[in-house]
Amino acid sequence: MKTVIKNGTVVSDSDCLQADVLIEDGIISEVSSSIAAPDAELIDAKDKLLLPGAVDAHTHMDLDVGFTRACDDFFSGTVAAAAGGTTTIIDHMAFGPKGAYPWHQVKEYHSLADGNAVIDYSFHGVLQERADDRTFAEIREIAEKEGITSFKLYLTYDMMLHDKDVFAVLNEAKRNNILITVHCENDGIINYLRDRCGEEHKLSAAFHPKSRPPDAEAEAVNRMLYMAECAGEAPLYIVHLSSEAGVREVIAARKRGQKHFGVETCPQYLVLNDSLYDDPCEGLKAIMSPPLRKDSDRFCLWEALKNDILDTVATDHCPFTFKEQKQRGKDDFRLCPNGAPGVEERLPLLFSEGYMKKRLSLPQLVKYVSTNPARIFGLYPKKGVIRPGSDADIVIMDPGKSYTLTGETIHGNADYTCYEGIGIKGAIDMVLLRGEVIVRDNKFLGKKGNGRYLKRGISSLC
Ligand code: URP
Ligand code: ZN
Ligand code: ZN
Repeated sequence: MKTVIKNGTVVSDSDCLQADVLIEDGIISEVSSSIAAPDAELIDAKDKLLLPGAVDAHTHMDLDVGFTRACDDFFSGTVAAAAGGTTTIIDHMAFGPKGAYPWHQVKEYHSLADGNAVIDYSFHGVLQERADDRTFAEIREIAEKEGITSFKLYLTYDMMLHDKDVFAVLNEAKRNNILITVHCENDGIINYLRDRCGEEHKLSAAFHPKSRPPDAEAEAVNRMLYMAECAGEAPLYIVHLSSEAGVREVIAARKRGQKHFGVETCPQYLVLNDSLYDDPCEGLKAIMSPPLRKDSDRFCLWEALKNDILDTVATDHCPFTFKEQKQRGKDDFRLCPNGAPGVEERLPLLFSEGYMKKRLSLPQLVKYVSTNPARIFGLYPKKGVIRPGSDADIVIMDPGKSYTLTGETIHGNADYTCYEGIGIKGAIDMVLLRGEVIVRDNKFLGKKGNGRYLKRGISSLC
C-alpha cells in the first residue's frame, strides 16, 4: 500500500523543509521536493506541518497502586495518546508484589498491553527494594531477550532503593549499557514533612506541595548525578524534573562536564502552578509527585528547554477519576492516588505554549517530544524522524486552527483535564501510525491491538 503526503513542511530536530513524503507498506520510502506517485493514495498537506509521531517516554497505563488502578488501561490510554499525536509510549511499570524480581513485571505488563495498545509501545523495567545478583542477572536477560534497555528506580515510596543498592545498580548499568531512570525526591524530607502535616492536621490539598519542597527534588537530583559520576559516568535519566532548584543541579553537572545523562520535564510543570491546590476540592485533581511549583520554576524550565539544558518532555500520564478515585484524598491528601492525566495534551500544549509563544523553535519542539526520546531510549531512527527507512509515524498539524482544551473532548477515561479552559493555537489534523491514518479530526480510527511491542536498542546516553 502506498500513500503520498504532498505540499507539507517536514520538521526534524534540526530544520524545517518543504517536501513530499512517500510511504510504502508503513515505511517512509522517500522525502523530496516533488514526488510523483499516481498509484498512491494522496494526502494534501498544504499549509500544514509534518511532525514525526511523538514518543512519550513516561506513562503509567493501568498502574496498580495497591488500593486502586490508574483509570486508563493500555487501550483507552493509547487511544488518548494517539489523539494527541503520540504514536509510541514507553510505559513505566508499577512495582510488583513485595519481593518480586524484574521478570515478574515484564510478564505482567505484556499481559496488560499486548492485544490492547493501539500505538507502538515498550516498557521500562522496574527495580524494587533491593539489588542483588539475581536482580542483575534478570536485568541482563531482559535487556537481551525483551529489548528493555532502561530500568527505573525510585528514591522515595515504599519500595525505593537505598543508596548502596542504587550505587550497585549504577555500576552494573555502566558495565552492561543499561540506562537507569530515576524518580528523584528525598524520602526523608518528604516523610518527615508528611508526618508533621498529619500531627498538625494540615491535610488539605494545599499541604501536598509543602510536604514535597523543591529542595527535596534538588537534593536527590544532585545525589543521583554524583553517584552516576562516581560509577564512572553510569548512564542516567532523571524523570519529571519540576523545579528551578533541580535545574540548577543539572546545570552544575553539565558545567562539570558530565555527559552521560538526560533530563525530562513534563507539560504540567511548564504550564500549571501550585495555585491549583488552593481549592481543597479541585486541588485533588493536581495531586501528583513531584507537585506543581511556582511560576518562577515554570519560567526556569522553559528557559532550560530554550537553552537545550533539558532533553525531553514526557507526560507522566497517571490518571485517576476525580469523581471517585481522587476523592480518597478529600480529608487527607496523603491518601489521594498520586498522578494526573496528560498523555493527550502534551503535543498540543507544547505546540501552543512553546512554539506559538516563541519559547521553542519547531525543531526544538520535535527534539523534545519525539527525536530525543527515540534516541535516548534506543528507538532511533525507526522512530523520532521523518526520513527514508523510518516507520511512517507522522502527525499532520494545522497551525491555523485553534480550540479550547476541555475534559469533555479528551479521549482517556479520566473525567477531567488539568488544563481545562486553556486555549490551544494549532490543531492536529491527522495522525498516521506506520502509514495508517489512526486519527482524523479528533476521531480515533485505529484498531485495538494494532500497537506493536518494540524491542529497543542501546540508549544514546550510554
Ligand atoms: O504522581 C505521580 N507522578 N505518579 C506516578 C508515579 C511517579 O512517581 O511517577
Ligand atoms: Zn515519579
Ligand atoms: Zn511516573
